[in-house]
Amino acid sequence: MGAEKGMGLRQGSRRKSAGIVIPVDGPAGSGKSTAAKGIAERLGFDYLESGALYRAVGYRVLKKNREGDFESLAVDAARDLRFECRKEGSEWRNVLDGEDVTGALRDEAISDMASRVSAISGVRAALLDFQRNFGRERGAVIDGRDIGTVVFPEARLKFFLDADIEVRIQRRFAELEARGVSFHPDRLREDLKRRDERDRHRASAPLRKAEDAVEIDTSGMGVDRVIEVMVENIRSVYGEVIEDA
Ligand code: DC
Repeated sequence: MGAEKGMGLRQGSRRKSAGIVIPVDGPAGSGKSTAAKGIAERLGFDYLESGALYRAVGYRVLKKNREGDFESLAVDAARDLRFECRKEGSEWRNVLDGEDVTGALRDEAISDMASRVSAISGVRAALLDFQRNFGRERGAVIDGRDIGTVVFPEARLKFFLDADIEVRIQRRFAELEARGVSFHPDRLREDLKRRDERDRHRASAPLRKAEDAVEIDTSGMGVDRVIEVMVENIRSVYGEVIEDA
């Protein structure tokens, strides 16, 4: 994994940080990925965007276009995932099976497919080990929907980010626009609401705030402020291993 090391940790304390995992959960457009990347950089931690794992599974399903029932295709696609979040310059790239799929994974078709495959318990089970091993081996910030509730429920500090639905739609719209993708705002609104519904009400690991998570409403906040608040919290819990956060 490619997070630049040594930015926030004392040399001698790096080993201590190995077991620290900071879950950052929330719905689409809550700003969790941007904030999670920001704190990973500040702390010199590795970063995993778990949503991209589900997107990668969706991508594999669409790409293979094989016959068979959807569920077993999806579970198959979730096995032996070769996936990395790699830092290149100032950008994080998603690499799947050796291919840079960063842009492709953000397509709306993949967003929908990711939400569908993520409701399948066999897919979730297949991705659980991947996420846990990732976190166990190094200091890591992991963002997603169930990182604080299911993947790392024992984490000492976890965050739940949320924002007003209209703000979340605007953010997603701006993100697509920046990539030159045109999308009608009404359709985006419908898609986001549908995915929200599915993520929150599925039987397997639905999106919800862990009881002990620090909740941040990012609606009226700039990303720098969000990162600042998170780093303050991290410092108060893990101050002993994080020198420069
Ligand atoms: O964060 P995202 O929009 O890239 O996530 C894509 C989909 O994957 C989304 O519908 C929810 C799902 N997901 C999940 O079920 N569990 C996670 N830990 C992360 C994402």
